Amino acid sequence: MNLERRTLLKGLGLASIGWAGSNAAGAAQLGDLTYATQEPSGVGSAVDYTDDVIYQIITDRFENGNTGNDPDGDLASDDCSDLRKYCGGDWQGIIDRIEDGYLTEMGITALWISPPFENVTSADPDIGTSYHGYWARDFEDANESFGDMDTFEELVSVAHDNGIKVVMDFVPNHTSPSTEDGDMEDGVLYDDGERVASYSDDPDDYFHHNGGTDYSSYEGQIYRNLYNLADFDQQNSFIDRYLKDAIEAWLDRGIDGIRVDAVAHMAPKWQKTLMDTIYDHEPVFTFGEWFLGTGESSQRYYDFSNDSGMSLLDFRFGQSLRQVLREFDDDWEDFWDVLQETASEHDQVVDQVPFIDNHDMERFTVEDGEVNTDLALAVLLTSRGTPTVYYGTEQYLTGGNDPENRKPMPSFDRTTTAYEIIKTLAPLRRSNPALAYGGTRQRWVNSDVFFYEREFGDNVVLVGINRSEDTYDVSGLSTALPEGTYEDHLDGLLDGFETTVGSDGSIDTFSFGPKTVCVWEHTGDTTEPTLGHVGPTMGRPGHTVTLSGEGFGSSTGSVGFGSTDASVVSWSDTQIEAEVPSVAGGFYDITVTDADGVESDAFADFEVLSGEQVSVRFVAEDAETETGENVYVVGNVHELGDWDTDRAVGPFFNRVVHEYPDWYFDVNVPAGTDIEFKFVKIADDGSVTWESGSNRTYTTPADSTGEYVGEWRT
Ligand code: NOJ
Ligand code: NOJ
Ligand code: CA
Repeated sequence: MNLERRTLLKGLGLASIGWAGSNAAGAAQLGDLTYATQEPSGVGSAVDYTDDVIYQIITDRFENGNTGNDPDGDLASDDCSDLRKYCGGDWQGIIDRIEDGYLTEMGITALWISPPFENVTSADPDIGTSYHGYWARDFEDANESFGDMDTFEELVSVAHDNGIKVVMDFVPNHTSPSTEDGDMEDGVLYDDGERVASYSDDPDDYFHHNGGTDYSSYEGQIYRNLYNLADFDQQNSFIDRYLKDAIEAWLDRGIDGIRVDAVAHMAPKWQKTLMDTIYDHEPVFTFGEWFLGTGESSQRYYDFSNDSGMSLLDFRFGQSLRQVLREFDDDWEDFWDVLQETASEHDQVVDQVPFIDNHDMERFTVEDGEVNTDLALAVLLTSRGTPTVYYGTEQYLTGGNDPENRKPMPSFDRTTTAYEIIKTLAPLRRSNPALAYGGTRQRWVNSDVFFYEREFGDNVVLVGINRSEDTYDVSGLSTALPEGTYEDHLDGLLDGFETTVGSDGSIDTFSFGPKTVCVWEHTGDTTEPTLGHVGPTMGRPGHTVTLSGEGFGSSTGSVGFGSTDASVVSWSDTQIEAEVPSVAGGFYDITVTDADGVESDAFADFEVLSGEQVSVRFVAEDAETETGENVYVVGNVHELGDWDTDRAVGPFFNRVVHEYPDWYFDVNVPAGTDIEFKFVKIADDGSVTWESGSNRTYTTPADSTGEYVGEWRT
């Protein structure tokens, strides 16, 4: 991978400044808040969410639109005093709140809803119930407490009519709680109404039976159970097909995006085959949940985001902002460090999904802490990535860990400051592409005050925040905003004020008061082709890819994958659809050339896959290694590194499914293909030991999982 190119691309908005200091556009910025009430105009792109705001709903806790489907008996808590039982919320309730304008007026353009499929219906006094939707029984059917399949489809269609996308939560890691003693419903699995197995009655090995994970190793997290949840073996050909068929069926019901549960707990390369299935069927934005605690980071997290074809919920951003504005344990310099880390570690930081709270951590708002929630929302909504607002945060709902963070909506008040902030900033993500695509630059920072700037092409947004009760003098603040006067885009909601930028691009010293946020913005008119986003970031020849940005021009130009031209499906000044050309599997730089022959900067390393992907388990037996040495596989197709040991696949595992000196790894490879490969040992210092003899050969399965077993050849 070429790191320099990637960094360049990420800074693309900043690198291509080109503003020469004219003041022509400055005056046009004054007081233009009209987009805050703009009507929705279609659903936008299913693969580019950068200008959206997602609203995360626990379906059971948002609104009860149909008491006829409420569960009863042990499952239910009618007044929701028992937060571990069903409270009656449903898809009809969401439809009602879309139709009454609560969500659209707030500027919400995407909803992430609880897993919609049928869940177990038993209640256990210690374990609780499936009100959250994470305990599937039948992935092909609807959770009847949320509504029937017709109501689900109506939700999708009402959302679309109102300019809102629907993201469903998908849980391919497990079914429901069980131990070998058969708790609750014993992790039972149904296939469209037909029982196929349960955890303790599992003759065809649909589940892993390796005990629970203690989180001490990645391998254990994947191949052992998460808590007591019956853990799928996705390498089992029935389960592989079942899960892929299920997501295809939900895609056919019109969903626009997918949130994947527990991605740190499934084989990463199997998930790449899942993404290939999704993109082949219907390309939609997909982001995974790889939980990181406070201050936690991990190279595997970034590797997954860069390799799997899936984005991630931005736990680095969320946990860091909570430390700065909720706990006050970290300051803005720490936050700036995290912004820089995420910008350099993610190939596409604008494709990640930041948030300030969710259903797996304490709610952001604490007693008397409303103003800090307001500040955090302002930062979230002006940051890179697709901001996600957890339901009720706009009503300052409080609560500790699960289930206290999942209380019912207290009200649907449209006058809270938090609601107004979202309502003002969400439309700005649509109208000013600096928020969607821009890089982030630090302009002024101390522990309490942070000025950061987003820039893309000729578009600029400068945000300043003071989290403290003190007043600071801000001097020497420079900006890419053109000379002119700018009103606070928040219109004083958080005590912001107007500012003036001089001809030298600086703002005269001013005093910045307590708990203040200013948002100053300039929406420009980029005339050179400027690429902001490509989605998906991997695909097979023939798949459609959407390129977004600005300045492509109205006449059709060309799109290059390396030196090969792609066939263009549609073209506008801000969006192009093109087909992945018939090139060999590999990484390609994508460029746009406008009708006048002006070429954009490159979007680096789009991954062309060699064909449909299937998951094959490679097992290397009897491979004895020195300390620090690990086993990998390398071979003659792109997916196996094209014989380049820097791209060998691994390190293999050796403790759970097979034990040392036997090693294994589940790898995505092209289907129905004769491949050649070898196992290699790679040491900590990078030195490579090839096994001897001629290349190994194997024909990969046409449409299923496979396994190759061979002894290491010394
Ligand atoms: C993460 C989800 O967000 C959490 O709420 C759920 O309980 C676990 N995964 C298991 O599905
Ligand atoms: C790549 C070759 O094609 C493979 O057969 C050989 O084993 C390795 N290089 C090491 O020489
Ligand atoms: Ca109901």
